[in-house]
Amino acid sequence: MSIEAFVFDAYGTLYDVQSVSQATNQEFPEHGELITQVWRLKQLEYTWLRSMMNSYRSFWEITEESLVYTLNSIGVQSDKAARDRLMDKYLHLDPHSDCISALNALSGKPLAILSNGNQEILDALVKNTGLDDKLNAVLSIDKAGIFKPHDRAYDLVEQTLQVKPENTVFVSSNAFDACAAKNYGFQVAWIERVTPQALAAEINAADIVGPATMFKLLRMQMENFGMEPDHRLSSLNDLATLGQEQVDA
Ligand code: LAC
Repeated sequence: MSIEAFVFDAYGTLYDVQSVSQATNQEFPEHGELITQVWRLKQLEYTWLRSMMNSYRSFWEITEESLVYTLNSIGVQSDKAARDRLMDKYLHLDPHSDCISALNALSGKPLAILSNGNQEILDALVKNTGLDDKLNAVLSIDKAGIFKPHDRAYDLVEQTLQVKPENTVFVSSNAFDACAAKNYGFQVAWIERVTPQALAAEINAADIVGPATMFKLLRMQMENFGMEPDHRLSSLNDLATLGQEQVDA
């Protein structure tokens, strides 16, 4: 199958969502890790619930709603200024260490983001991290008014890039997103950032399984939907070999 474009998920795939821990640890040193993990778990859950309830809110609002939920549930006091500092990290997330080199290596093909983020915050993040020079398009599901994994969100790729799903490699490290993209008809590369073996070793070595390990258990392992991504890659850098396989074939 030919490859005419690469489309990337943003949060967790190109950008390290765990890098919010710099802000959560600073603001709430006693509960930084718990806040980091519950916040992200709730944020994703709220995207799915909002889609199911047909009551769309922007990803920015969802990120704020899930942050307030997290802080209230843990029982920490916060003022608006502290919450704003945490939210601001979403505009300055660290790119994963393999992000820039991978995008550089693939630069011969159209490269785009399709993210649950709303356009304004995606544009700010991409600009703040210098990825604007490397991407041909930044697509927000905002236009569809419903989050991934809904088909209408994935429809934006063909509608905007004019490339068919079967000729698009959709890249995600979020297992739910990789499964849904496969179900939709994309060629899918799942970035397996934590192997089952590494996770099992982490669990066995722990006296108590902590929030970060729990996050890996819930969000970073392949879903049990009987759907295999076309490629399981340990790093975004391995994407270059897909293009190469095509040339060799
Ligand atoms: C995104 C979420 C799924 O970037 O991480 O769309």
